[in-house]
Amino acid sequence: NTTPVKVAVTGAAGQIGYSLLFRIASGDLFGPDTPVQLRLLEIAPALKALEGVVMELDDCAFPTLAGVEIGDDPNTIFDGANVALLVGARPRSKGMERGDLLEANGAIFTVQGKALNDHAADDIHVTVTGNPANTNALIAMSNAKDIPTERFSALTRLDHNRALAQVCAKAGVPVSEIRNMTIWGNHSATQYPDLFHAQIGGRPATEVINDQAWLEETFIPTVAKRGAAIIEARGSSSAASAASATIDHTRDWLQGSSEGNWLSMAVRSDGSYGVPEGLISSFPVTTSGGRWEIVQGLEIDEFSRGKIDASAAELDEERAAVTELGLI
Ligand code: NAI
Repeated sequence: NTTPVKVAVTGAAGQIGYSLLFRIASGDLFGPDTPVQLRLLEIAPALKALEGVVMELDDCAFPTLAGVEIGDDPNTIFDGANVALLVGARPRSKGMERGDLLEANGAIFTVQGKALNDHAADDIHVTVTGNPANTNALIAMSNAKDIPTERFSALTRLDHNRALAQVCAKAGVPVSEIRNMTIWGNHSATQYPDLFHAQIGGRPATEVINDQAWLEETFIPTVAKRGAAIIEARGSSSAASAASATIDHTRDWLQGSSEGNWLSMAVRSDGSYGVPEGLISSFPVTTSGGRWEIVQGLEIDEFSRGKIDASAAELDEERAAVTELGLI
């Protein structure tokens, strides 16, 4: 196949962009035989810095990179896009309330949703990484009336991967031994990393680890607060790992999850597991050929019920706030 896949990336001159673009250009999303064209969106003041990044992309001489377009108009940059990775967002600045944050991001994701609707290719798949990721995805989805809702997703794969890393360290096993990890809910401190359905070497993870205190007091808070711990240590937020998770999420969505395993993706709820319909919430999903399906029939005990409900309630509040602001 020699027709390049068009991959749009927003916030391309940012920290995550600086890692993500090189991974896409080198073939990590579609493999070594599929050329990719990068279409990079930034705000005008960041275009000069983005030109520098493009010079570096050129200098990598990647055989898979079939061209780069940059600009500050989403209508132009999303033209013909097959995949859109929405990374650019407005960070919370000092003194900013959650409502202000939702409003600032609403301005970005309403416009981008409409631009995707009007200009992207028919097979567009959208991954939202920029925070608040779930609700930003909800806003973009709601403003793209002609794009099927199942083409919008938000990133909880970083949380999923963080959970895998914690279990590897605790159980002393390689990551390949762990299956069926789940992140439920919002990509926020209320997320619920669920070990009860995970397996280590084919055995229930909670049987192998058998340490409820670790699960409640160490595992869950460490995963949920990992972002803050990285800011504390590094002085800026996780970037290479967020880029890597964005690749994992999008690659597995388009190419399928491996047999006997599932992934965590935030997708539009159909009401499964009591999560209100229409919220973009993280679920265990299997994927194949660009489609996802929520894993059904898992038993949810009282402990998990409370955690899933709390995160869904937070998402519901965010939805109410953006509804009130007229963003969806
Ligand atoms: P950054 O601040 O380094 O880069 C963001 C870039 O987006 C900036 O270059 C900015 O100019 C650009 N931007 C802002 N508004 C834009 C618009 N309307 N159109 C196009 N570009 C725009 O931030 P970083 O570290 O790259 O993170 C990006 C986002 O990803 C943040 O919202 C961050 O909170 C989020 N994030 C999400 C994670 C997840 O697991 N879902 C993990 C880590 C970060």
